[in-house]
Amino acid sequence: MSDSAPGPKQRLFLALWPDDALRHRIAEVATAYRISGGRPVPRANRHITLAFLGSLDVERRRCVERVADAVRVPAFELWLDRLGFWPRPGGILWLGSSEPPEALGRLVAHLCDGISICGVERDRRPFHAHLTLMRRVERAVRLDPPVPMRWPVGDFVLCESVTDPSGARYQILKRWRLCE
Ligand code: 2AM
Repeated sequence: MSDSAPGPKQRLFLALWPDDALRHRIAEVATAYRISGGRPVPRANRHITLAFLGSLDVERRRCVERVADAVRVPAFELWLDRLGFWPRPGGILWLGSSEPPEALGRLVAHLCDGISICGVERDRRPFHAHLTLMRRVERAVRLDPPVPMRWPVGDFVLCESVTDPSGARYQILKRWRLCE
């Protein structure tokens, strides 16, 4: 892969994207957990990031798409049954899973190994599946865990993050189905 070429770039990430029914349930949970002072992630933006890619030129984006084309991981079930809080960075309140399925780990490992070969810098932190509900929460609060929500994961997406005056907007560019 040649060094990053001049030309248009897109800020991209690979993600699990809830369907409308699950998004609706997450919205109900998010409302129950609203904490004063925190900034809720807009309902349409909620997702689980598999790999953050940063700003990519067309050549690197194509390389990442080929990596995604080569995924051979079966569809899996993810249970959102856990609420967590990371004070740094950004006071993040998130939904996650107490038992992430092995297939999710395999999917992330495949994507991260592949994108490194594409010359995309990978996050050095270990992967921790989380769906951010709120940012800028200043203090940890004790909250009951959510009623578990079942997420049948059959695909993953490539998303572009566009920042405009009203904040970040995410647009799905491409979708890959997992194996049946
Ligand atoms: P999050 O999953 O904790 O909310 C798009 O920006 C998505 O990629 C966000 O969901 C964000 O975090 C995730 N992400 C991971 N690393 C990032 C980084 N270095 N900069 C911006 N977003 C990042």
